[in-house]
Amino acid sequence: MPTIRFITSGRTVDFPDGDDVNLLRVAIRNECEVPYKCASGNCGTDRIFVESGATNLSPPRKRERDRLGELLDQGWRLACQTYVTGDISISWDKDQTPLNPNAVDKSLPNQVDERIKNRWLQANDTD
Ligand code: FES
Repeated sequence: MPTIRFITSGRTVDFPDGDDVNLLRVAIRNECEVPYKCASGNCGTDRIFVESGATNLSPPRKRERDRLGELLDQGWRLACQTYVTGDISISWDKDQTPLNPNAVDKSLPNQVDERIKNRWLQANDTD
């Protein structure tokens, strides 16, 4: 059973062999404290550093490449855009801010988070 180690929050989450799971969805469901705002690849708030297991992640797509730029080559990914198929360990800065503040609705930050959280928790990990 593969394991995701969320180093910064000290959490670990196992998932069934053969599954590919969305990293941010797993983090939200298991209260792993990965920061996020848009859950759509636009803000960059949920960037995580891959400490190990990079080959067990889905390849980055255009939106993630565009948002991360050089950070992608340095080992960073966006949790909301990344699917996991095997063991990985990740870390992040607890105080990190969006790479693109314009992608965050500053007038309703907490309500936006709750709306996204509720929507994501209703979906399958592989959606
Ligand atoms: S939460 Fe905004 S890019 Fe992933």
